[in-house]
Amino acid sequence: MSQTLLRGKHLITFQEWNKNEINMVLDVAGDLKRRFATGEPHRLLQDKTLFMMFFEQSTRTRNSMEAGMTQLGGHAHDLTPDKMQLSHGESAKDTAMVLSRMGHGIACRNCFYGIGNKYLREMAQFSSIPILSLQDDLYHPMQVIADLMTIQEYFGKDTGGLKVTISWAYAISHAKPLSVPLSQLLMFPRFGMDVTVAAPKEFPLYPELVAAAKRNAAENWGKLIFTDDMDTAFEGAQIVIPKNWGGFGNYTFDEYNQNEEACRQEMKNNLAKHKDWICDERRMKLAAPEVKYMHALPADRGNEVTDAVIDGPASIIYDEAENRLHTAKAVMALTMGGRP
Ligand code: CP
Repeated sequence: MSQTLLRGKHLITFQEWNKNEINMVLDVAGDLKRRFATGEPHRLLQDKTLFMMFFEQSTRTRNSMEAGMTQLGGHAHDLTPDKMQLSHGESAKDTAMVLSRMGHGIACRNCFYGIGNKYLREMAQFSSIPILSLQDDLYHPMQVIADLMTIQEYFGKDTGGLKVTISWAYAISHAKPLSVPLSQLLMFPRFGMDVTVAAPKEFPLYPELVAAAKRNAAENWGKLIFTDDMDTAFEGAQIVIPKNWGGFGNYTFDEYNQNEEACRQEMKNNLAKHKDWICDERRMKLAAPEVKYMHALPADRGNEVTDAVIDGPASIIYDEAENRLHTAKAVMALTMGGRP
C-alpha cells in the first residue's frame, strides 16, 4: 500500500517518512519516468515556483531539480548565498517566512558539519511551504531515493536479503560529507537489504544515526554489519557502493566547529594512511557475478575507483544519476502539488 496525502510535507530525511509514503514516491517516479520517455506532457506544477538555495556546488542535484521543475510546468530559482541577504546575516527564519509568501517550495543544500541540518530544520519550523533537503551534513534524501529506485530497477521490488556493500574509499578531491552513506544505511535495511559497511577505524559514521540504522534493520528484517576490511566487505556483494567520506564522525558538532583547522588536519593525516581503499577489478572479482557498481557522483577517478570499474560492465552510475531527475520530480509533484 502507498500513501497519497503528501502535499505540504517537508523532506529533510526519509527517516521522517513512512514506507507507504516512500513507496508512493517510487510509484510516481516510475510513472514520470515513463512519461518523460514517451514525451507525454506532465505539467503537474504549472505556474508554481521552487526556491533553491545552494551553499555548495552541485551538478546532479541542481540540474535534476531545475530541469524537473521546468518539465513539471513550473520554475526554479537557482540561488546561492552571494545572491541573497543571508550573506549579510539574514536568519533562516526570516528567509523561510519571506520565501513562503512568494512560492510553493524551498529547497536547500547546506552541508557544513554541525550546521546544515540545523539550518534546514530552522527553516522547516517557520516555513508554510515544503522544505526539501538538497543534502545537509547528515542526510541526502534526494540521492538515496534515486539509489533505491535504481536498485529496484535492476534487482526487482522485493529487495529482501539483497547483499549491499557501502564502503569508504580513498579520495583527494575533498572531504565528502557523511550524508550519502548515512542515508543509504538508514534506508536500505528498511527494505530488508543485507547491508555491510566497511571503513577504516578513523572514518566512523555519525554514531547517533548508526544506532538509528541498526534499529531500522531490526524492525524490517534487514541486516547491518560493520567491518574495517574492504576485501571482506566485497565478498559475495550484489551491489557495491564505494565512496569517500571525511572523518567528521570522530567529532561532536561542537568539537569540530570550535577546532575546525585541527580536525581538518587530523582528517588529512588519517586519509593518507588508506590510499589502498580503491574499488578496482581485483576487488570486483570478490563480489557476486551479478554485482553492480554504484556511486552518487562526482567520483574521484583513480582514487576511489579505477576507470576500468566505473566505465565497466558492472557500473550503473548513469542510470543512478538519471533517476535523480525522476525521483526529484516525484518528490516535488507530491509535496508541492498533489491532492489537497
Ligand atoms: N550526487 C550529488 O548530489 O551530486 P551533486 O553534488 O552534483 O549534486
